[in-house]
Amino acid sequence: MKKLEQIYEGKAKKVFATDNPDYVIVSYKDDATAFNGQKRGTIVGKGVVNNKVSNHFFKLLESKGIPPHYVKQLSDRETVVKKVSIVPVEVIVRNKAAGSFSKRMGVPEGSMLLCPVLEFSYKNDELCDPFFNSYYIRALGLATDEEIEKIEEYSFRVNDILSEYLKGFGVELIDFKLEFGRFHGDIILADEISPDTGRFWDIETGKKLDKDRFRRDLGNVEEAYREIIRRLMGE
Ligand code: TMP
Repeated sequence: MKKLEQIYEGKAKKVFATDNPDYVIVSYKDDATAFNGQKRGTIVGKGVVNNKVSNHFFKLLESKGIPPHYVKQLSDRETVVKKVSIVPVEVIVRNKAAGSFSKRMGVPEGSMLLCPVLEFSYKNDELCDPFFNSYYIRALGLATDEEIEKIEEYSFRVNDILSEYLKGFGVELIDFKLEFGRFHGDIILADEISPDTGRFWDIETGKKLDKDRFRRDLGNVEEAYREIIRRLMGE
């Protein structure tokens, strides 16, 4: 497959066209942003970790019947994925209170939740990704009822599969964000699942092994990303 011109550059990835109209190549960067791009920095080696960890998760999920955009890893930072049209909805699943949930609800971080929580926000940087619900999604024509149902079903299944899987490596999945896309009419899992987009805590100590170390200036940011890839993939 031939890598052609760059068609998009986001905060954490670049996307290139290929000679196959169904496929694009994503290239993961070390650039880190938080708070809708207000905080910027570099996490050395992050792109490699996120590329490999995302692909690792996507392969696991695919083996359990959840279709991802993942096609083939090309190198440490580059992967061929299906060219989807992104549904502009960020889906967050939470197992314990943290981050914006704790802030919004006045519940301390790490508090147990009686059941997993699924929430949506509108993927729109200009509006700072506002919190919304499925009525907004339907009313704005962003997805059909059937698509919303599929997205919810896949999101909870991803939660079950990854929570169980990570537990085996001494990692607790606190919460994570997913994005979905349309590919030839079907909803498939897109974007990435990585320490940038999920909260991973050490089960024993509660140590944060994710992007919160960057967001909150906790130090040892690179080490946390390396720790995740070491535990999951032995690298
Ligand atoms: P939050 O608690 O800040 O709402 O974040 C919930 C989860 O979603 C957390 O694992 C980080 C992830 N996330 C993203 O991937 N992108 C974002 O823009 C935000 C705000 C959160």
